[in-house]
Amino acid sequence: MTFDRSLKIAPSILSADFADFGREIRAIEDQGADWVHVDVMDGHFVPNLTFGPPAVKAFRKHVTTVMDVHLMISPVDAYIDAYAEAGADMLTAHVEAGPHIHRTLQAIRAVGMKAGVALNPGTPAEAVTDLLDVADMVLVMTVNPGFGGQKFLDMTAKIARVRDMIGDREVHIQVDGGVDPTTAPLVVAAGADVLVAGSAVFRGGSVDAAHVYGENMRAIRAAVQG
Ligand code: DX5
Ligand code: ZN
Repeated sequence: MTFDRSLKIAPSILSADFADFGREIRAIEDQGADWVHVDVMDGHFVPNLTFGPPAVKAFRKHVTTVMDVHLMISPVDAYIDAYAEAGADMLTAHVEAGPHIHRTLQAIRAVGMKAGVALNPGTPAEAVTDLLDVADMVLVMTVNPGFGGQKFLDMTAKIARVRDMIGDREVHIQVDGGVDPTTAPLVVAAGADVLVAGSAVFRGGSVDAAHVYGENMRAIRAAVQG
C-alpha cells in the first residue's frame, strides 16, 4: 500500500448479499471500489455479530485492491495474528476497545499490517493525540457502530481537529457511517480521504445489476468533486 490523500471509496460488505460474498466483492471492485471494507462485530463491543477470521480469509481470495478490516471487538490483541493470517492489509481497532490501544497498534504493525485506530462518536479527537506515530489511519465514526443504514452524525469538527493533529504524517482519515452523496462532501472538506459506504453503494443494485454499484460510487465521487 502506498500512501496518498486522494479520495478512496471503501464499500462496506455489511450491505452485500451474505450468501454471495465472492461475487459481491468482485462486483464492487469491477465497478471502481478502491478498498473493500470488512466489518467484524463480536456481539459484545457492539450489539451485532458478523464474521470472524475464517470468513475474512475466504474474502481475501476475491479482493484485489485493499482489504480494510474494521474490528468492532473487545478485546483485540488475541485476534491480531488471526487477521494477519487472514490477509488483512489494514486492521483497525477502536480506541474504546481497551485495554492498551498503543500496544495494540504496535502489535498490528509488528505482524506486517497497517494499523488503524477508530473513534466512536462519543470519543473526542484528542484520544488519538499520542497514537499518531503508531497509526496509519484514524477512523472517525459518524454513527454508533453496529449496524448499516443509520443516520449520519455530523462529526466534521472532529475530523478537522484530527486532520490538524496529523499534520504532515502519512495517516489516512477514514469516515464510516451514513456516508452518501449528501454527506461525503462535508467529511472530505473537513479532511477525510477514505469514505466507507454500505447502503449508499449497494442500494438498488445486486451482483446481476452491478452497474448500479458503479453509479452509486460515481454519484459519491461526483458530489465530492462538485
Ligand atoms: C457500522 C459499520 C459501517 C457500516 C456503514 O458499524 O462500521 O461500516 O456498514 O454502513 P452505512 O454506510 O450503511 O451507514
Ligand atoms: Zn465499518
